[in-house]
Order: sequence, then C-alpha cells, then structure tokens
Amino acid sequence: MTEIINGKEISKKILYEIKVEAEQLYEKYEFKAGLAVVLIGNDPASQIYVKNKRATCEKIGFYSEAYDLSEEVKENELIKLLDELNAEPSIHGILVQLPLPKHLDERKILEYINPQKDVDGFHPSTQAKLFLGTAKLEPCTPKGIIELLKRSNIQIEGKHCVILGRSNIVGKPLALMLLKENATVTICHSKTENIAEIARTADILISAIGKANFVTADMVKENAVVIDVGMNRSLDNKLVGDVDYQNVFPKVRAITPVPGGVGPMTIAMLMKNTLEAAKLIKKIKT
Ligand code: GUN
Repeated sequence: MTEIINGKEISKKILYEIKVEAEQLYEKYEFKAGLAVVLIGNDPASQIYVKNKRATCEKIGFYSEAYDLSEEVKENELIKLLDELNAEPSIHGILVQLPLPKHLDERKILEYINPQKDVDGFHPSTQAKLFLGTAKLEPCTPKGIIELLKRSNIQIEGKHCVILGRSNIVGKPLALMLLKENATVTICHSKTENIAEIARTADILISAIGKANFVTADMVKENAVVIDVGMNRSLDNKLVGDVDYQNVFPKVRAITPVPGGVGPMTIAMLMKNTLEAAKLIKKIKT
C-alpha cells in the first residue's frame, strides 16, 4: 500500500506545537515572535503565498508587519526599509518575497537582511553555515522536506537521495542538509545526461524542477519515496506538482501530493525559524 505523506496534517501539528511554545514564551517573557513580510509588486502567486504567511502568523499568535511596496520601488527605498526592520526590536524575522521585479538585484537585497533575522535562510552567511553544517536558521522548503521524512519515519541515513533541480532555494541547500543527515546525495539538473537512469537509482527522489508531469513512472524505482516540490499550473489552472502522480503512485512506497504535501511545510518551517530567531535574539534557551 502506498503511503500518502500528508504535509497538511503534519504542518498543522507542527504549527500547533509552535503556538503552544509561543504562548509559553509570552507568559514567561511577555514578548511575541515578530515577522515582517515584504511584498513588492503584483505577482499573483506571490500575493497568495504572502497572504498565507501573514494569516499563519495571526493564527499562531505571532506579531507580524506587512509591507506591500509598489512594483517601481527604488532600491534605496527598499534598503532603507530593511535597515529599519533590521534595527526594530519587535521584529525577529524578515522575509522579502521572491521573485523581485527585474530592476532590483536579488542577491544585493537579500544581503541587507540581518543574518540573525534571516528566517528564509537566503543570506550568504546563512548559506555558508549550511555548507559547514552549523546553520541555526535553515531554508524553509528543504527544512520542511527533512521534517516530512522524519515525521513519516522514513530513514534518510545511508539512503540514496536524488534531487532534481539545483536552485539556491531548494536543490542546493537540500543536498547539504541531506548530507548532514548522512544520506548519499546526487543532484540532477537541466544539463544532466541520463536523468531517468539516475532517478531510477533513488531510494528517495525529490523533484524541484518546476515542470508538470516531468517525473514519469519509468523514472522511479519500485518502493521508492517520492517528494514533489513542484508548484505548477495545469492547462485548466489547477495546482500540480512535477510528478505524474497517478502513474507513479502505485509503484512507490510513499509520495507527497500537490497540493497538501511540501507546500504547507514551507510555511510551518518559516514560523519555526521565526520562533527560533526570536529565541536566539532574546538569548532564551529551551
Ligand atoms: N518565493 C518562492 N518561495 C519562496 C520562499 O521560500 N521565500 C521567499 N522569500 N520567496 C519565495
């Protein structure tokens, strides 16, 4: 029987745990973890993600600030806002929703975020710590994937994990985090030769390619675990992953659905990072 890894349920449980801890911290220290979410422009997908992030803060008793900036915002205006948020004591996490409008240099902007408040895990110093295995705040989607596997009792140590996609947000950090868990890791990308052949050797196959139906049944080993990070729109505008779910499903041991798999875990990990950042800034050990 194939197990459906229910990210929605698992994330609910994690958010409940975070809410309880946030309440305890409030009772003891009289402060709330605070997240600033900055949205630039009118990208419809980004608007939905940001709305969900803000609503989740509300639900679990975090303090949050919303900044909706115009598509034409100047670089120095955005940097000024980030400087203010970096210095603001009630804010422990700063998130700038990506992608940014073309006139803004993403790398430069992300470097302005105080690494102590880098709840997305995108700052170069956070990424360097990831390389060393010492990061306290890890990028949310890879962290959510590791948490999904652990909470589903899927062994990572010693297993061959094949990652499809080498982005700075998912593929690369995930590879480092799986290595830390003692997995054997292969990253495939758009220039990889024999991608199907390599995918077939995976005990755990993670797809973060961004193409609907990219992972077909012949690319998957019998009884593998399949994690689908894809968020694509089908022709009838439905949210679909990278995996040909219907045909892959009967072949595998466990699989994440889209929606309801990795997506909700990303938000849960953002909240976890925000609470962690608040505790680190306040020097609270639990
Ligand atoms: N855009 C797509 N995913 C993410 C994410 O995890 N964080 C931010 N800031 N932007 C994104």
